[in-house]
Amino acid sequence: AIRDKKELYFELNKKAALFYYGMLSKKEGAPAVAYFKERQLDGRCAKFYTLGYSPNSRTALLDYLKGEGYKEEDIFAAGLASKNDSGAYFDRFRNRIMFPIFNANDKAIGFGARRITEDVNPKYLNTADTLIYNKSKNLYSLNVARRSKCGEVILVEGYMDVISVVKHGIANVVATLGTALTSDQAKLLKRYFNEIIICYDSDDAGLEAKKRAIMLLRDFDIKVSVMTVEGAKDTDEFLKKYGQDRFLALINKRKSDLLYLMDIFGAKYELQINVEDRIRYVSDLLPYLAKVKNDVELDIYVEEIARRAKTGAQAIYAQLGKTRVVKG
Ligand code: UTP
Ligand code: MN
Ligand code: MN
Ligand code: MN
Ligand code: MN
Repeated sequence: AIRDKKELYFELNKKAALFYYGMLSKKEGAPAVAYFKERQLDGRCAKFYTLGYSPNSRTALLDYLKGEGYKEEDIFAAGLASKNDSGAYFDRFRNRIMFPIFNANDKAIGFGARRITEDVNPKYLNTADTLIYNKSKNLYSLNVARRSKCGEVILVEGYMDVISVVKHGIANVVATLGTALTSDQAKLLKRYFNEIIICYDSDDAGLEAKKRAIMLLRDFDIKVSVMTVEGAKDTDEFLKKYGQDRFLALINKRKSDLLYLMDIFGAKYELQINVEDRIRYVSDLLPYLAKVKNDVELDIYVEEIARRAKTGAQAIYAQLGKTRVVKG
C-alpha cells in the first residue's frame, strides 16, 4: 500500500542521512570535514542537522542499503539513486555535503547536496520529487522552527543561511528548497506563524524574489515584513561578518512589506524634481496596493505614497481603480 511505501521511503532517507553523517568520522569524509571547517560549521551543527558527506563513489550508499536488505528499486524510488540507459543503478549524490530535509513531523524526506569544489555543477543538487518529497510543499527546518514558540518566522534563501541563524540562537527560521516561495509553503507557514520576515540575499535575484514573495503572501492574509542584510551577500555572510547583535538589530528594524517597497522604489527615482519618475513611482507600487484588503491600511499607504510622490491620494485611488478593473 501507498502508506507502507511512504514509511519505507522515510526509513531509507533516514538511513541514508545517518550513513552520510557517519562518513564525517571516516577517512573518506576528510574533504567534507575540511569544507565544514572553512564554513565554520562545527560538530554541533552537523549533529543537530545530521549534515553529512556522500562519498565520491558510484555505489557506496547503494551497497550499504542493499547490505541492509533494501531493494534497488525502492532506493531509486526514495530518490537516493539514479539509473543509467542500460538500467544500472548508481548513487544520486556523490562527493557532496549532504543536508537532509525533514518534514514538519521530523521524517527524513530528501536532501540538498552542495558541491565542495567549484568545478562541479550544479552548486546544489536536490532530491527530485518522489512519493514523499515535493520541493514546493516543504520548507527546510520547519520541524525546528515550528517548535520555537515564536509568532514570527524568518524566511531565508538557503540551507547555510538557516544553519547560521540557528547557530546564533534563533530557531524560528526556514528556507525554501531551491524554488520561489509557493502557495503551499505560504499555507504551511500560516499554520504555525503570524508574521513572515523575508530575509533574502542582497543580489538582484534576491530582490525579485522578495517582490514575488510579498505579492504571494499578501493573498494569504499574513503579516509580511522585510529585513535587508546590508553589507553582505546573504544572511550567512552577514552573521559571519557582523555577528548576532547586528542581526538582532536588523530584525528589530524590519519594515512592513509596503514601507519596504516604498523605500526601494523610492531610491530608484528622483522624487523631488522629476515628474516622470514620480508617476513611475506610483505605478510601480500600484500592483502591491491592489493586494491590500483593509481599507484603513490601504489609506495609510496611499497617503504616504501621495506625500512622497507629491501628488494627491485621490489620484492614486483613481489609478488603483483602473488597475483593479484591468486585473478583473
Ligand atoms: P544561493 O546560490 O544563494 O546559495 O542559493 P547559498 O545558499 O548562499 O549557498 P552557499 O552559501 O554558496 O553554500 C540559495 C538556495 O537556492 C538553492 C539551494 O536551496 C540554496 O541553498 N539552490 C541554489 C539550488 O537548489 N540549486 C543551485 O544550484 C543553487
Ligand atoms: Mn541567492
Ligand atoms: Mn545565498
Ligand atoms: Mn551563502
Ligand atoms: Mn558568530
